[in-house]
Amino acid sequence: MKPNEKASRIKSMKGSKPVSCLTGYDFATGKLLDEAGVDLILVGDSLGMVVLGFPDTTHVTMEHMLHHTAAVARGVKNALVVGDLPIHSYDTPADALANAQRLVEAGADAVKLEGGLMQIEKVKAIIDAGIPVFGHMGMLPQRVLTEGGYKKKGKSEGEVDAIIEGCVALQEAGCFAIVLESVVGASAAKITDAIDIPMIGIGCGEGNCDGEIAVITDVVGAYPWFVPPFATVRADVAGDTKRAAEAYIANMKMR
Ligand code: KIV
Repeated sequence: MKPNEKASRIKSMKGSKPVSCLTGYDFATGKLLDEAGVDLILVGDSLGMVVLGFPDTTHVTMEHMLHHTAAVARGVKNALVVGDLPIHSYDTPADALANAQRLVEAGADAVKLEGGLMQIEKVKAIIDAGIPVFGHMGMLPQRVLTEGGYKKKGKSEGEVDAIIEGCVALQEAGCFAIVLESVVGASAAKITDAIDIPMIGIGCGEGNCDGEIAVITDVVGAYPWFVPPFATVRADVAGDTKRAAEAYIANMKMR
């Protein structure tokens, strides 16, 4: 299936089927998630924290994203692979388009960028070139330093109206879906109702959006040093890895 067909398939799920989305950062995980039947795999700039060991996503570069996007894409046949545009890779419409094209050349089907009204010219430049765009509203991790932390959004009517305005603009510019991050549950439900394309929640409470996205290392328990309070941990990869390494070392010492 062509990238635009895959993106249209996700868009058409609004109101009929919940959209399942996970992040993935390497070939093996991409292949496993695809075999499991996930709808969308985001090579998120969260890789800066959970794979590369940076304190936040503001250290992630295009080179990091190209390297990991290519690895994931090599393992995926069916899911829509989205490459995240890192901070400062879309400061102008020309940069946004050039870097989106580089992610596509690396294997992405679509790209994601953060923000609403301020990004519309950039979103249009990318979509006009035939590349599907995944929006991102609510709490925007690339602004963590300028906002002084990760702040919950949608706490006031004014804030909800501003998010809706941004989402409508992204929808009109042609985005196939929008991530909604860290928004008060009731506000997330209101925003989801107001928008015609799938709203994909994270940290917005269960069932308030058209689908959910989760960071794979949270889901499988691979990054135990920080687990967001909203995450459901379904495996203990960190514990299993440590136990397997200890068993290997113990066996070696018995020689
Ligand atoms: O970078 C990322 O993984 C993301 C998700 C948390 C939506 O943006």
